[in-house]
Amino acid sequence: MPAPNIETIVSLSKRRGFVFPASDIYGGLGSSWDYGQLGVELANNIKKSWWNWLVYERDDIEGLDSSIIQNRNVWKYSGHETTFSDPLVDCRDCNSRLREDKLERNAEGKPICSNCGSTNLTESRPFNLMFRTTIGAVSSDDDPMALAYLRPETAQGIFINFKNVLDTSRRKLPFGIAQIGKAFRNEVTPGNFIFRTREFEQMEMEYFCRPEDAAALHQEWIDGFQTWLGTLGILPENLSLYEQQAHELAHYAERTVDIMYRFFPEREDEEKQWDELMGIANRKDFDLKAHSKKPEDAEGKRVNPDSTEDLSYFDPQTNERFYPYVIEPAIGVNRTLLAVMMDAYTEKTNEKGEVRVILKLKPELAPIKVAVLPLAKNKPEITEMARKIKRGLQPAMRAVYDDTGGIGKLYARQDEIGTPF
Ligand code: GAP
Repeated sequence: MPAPNIETIVSLSKRRGFVFPASDIYGGLGSSWDYGQLGVELANNIKKSWWNWLVYERDDIEGLDSSIIQNRNVWKYSGHETTFSDPLVDCRDCNSRLREDKLERNAEGKPICSNCGSTNLTESRPFNLMFRTTIGAVSSDDDPMALAYLRPETAQGIFINFKNVLDTSRRKLPFGIAQIGKAFRNEVTPGNFIFRTREFEQMEMEYFCRPEDAAALHQEWIDGFQTWLGTLGILPENLSLYEQQAHELAHYAERTVDIMYRFFPEREDEEKQWDELMGIANRKDFDLKAHSKKPEDAEGKRVNPDSTEDLSYFDPQTNERFYPYVIEPAIGVNRTLLAVMMDAYTEKTNEKGEVRVILKLKPELAPIKVAVLPLAKNKPEITEMARKIKRGLQPAMRAVYDDTGGIGKLYARQDEIGTPF
């Protein structure tokens, strides 16, 4: 049976070294988390699985690692400066800051404060989620010439490198570019452990194609990702699809389907048990066009006067030049790790009535692949042999040696962290 709630995973994570509250010795920093000795291995193995599946096992995807801080124009022309915001309200009674679109409503449709139940809230106003910083030695913190942002998605780094990769890899459509990296959003209401944080890691792939092929490829990636999530051990009954409604779509998207995971199985209302694990969007030609110097408006004025490049594609077979459409499967490493841990979590009661935790991770995801446990720690011929076996294994996989307890306890410790061998 999967974990009954996220709290169970929080406690296992802290107890065994998967995830720790960040800055804990200074009282923490709201919704920031550090990945411990096991968490970093599990996250790396999830990223490896994604990268292998997309970049190594297919013939049509290249990898990329672009900068976190880019020229401010990237975020101007992507639309993030003007539209990447959440509707913010303040509660006049308890001073909570809340995301209006996430609040329950009363019978008259008025939003209710999730902290104190009041409907005495301010008008909603847009709050831009991008973290600001300044570049270089500047005289003041709000110098517009020095203003830059921490990227709120890895995707834009891919779009602005489209031509670089296209020209140097000699790719033809359809092909994809995959990237894994940190993203930052000044979320109004982060929470639920690592589900929503201000610093997180994304695995994004932009699949460039001819416009007429986009709808069918979109469906292929929706199906493909459900299969890949299954290979991570995520149970099909804990996954569902959600078709975003017109008013929910991001400014660039024609159609977006979210793959939802049952992050909150303890909630009575089945509908509220689900939340987004990943989104798969058809971004059309929005981004390549937006970053191109070429497109002109109806009066022949350049829409983007700052770009020096045209990111269109020339098809030598049809002699056409056009802006490719993009299918974008985007998934968070942290949410994936949480879903993997929840579905791997199992409790078993032994003959003595003691409850044991077993983390049934797929071997390729397990932080530690093999534990070498000597049956007796006082017999050098046994411990030396065990250490030798461990040393022989360690160049090939994460192996540990442990003789700090009885064999039953040692096994139980490894079961709890998902060690397969
Ligand atoms: N480029 C498209 C894009 O960024 P998104 O739905 O905003 O789309 C993609 O983000 C995925 O990144 C989400 O499905 C989720 O897994 C993860 N993600 C987004 N915001 C997050 C946050 N604040 N904390 C943790 N993960 C987050």
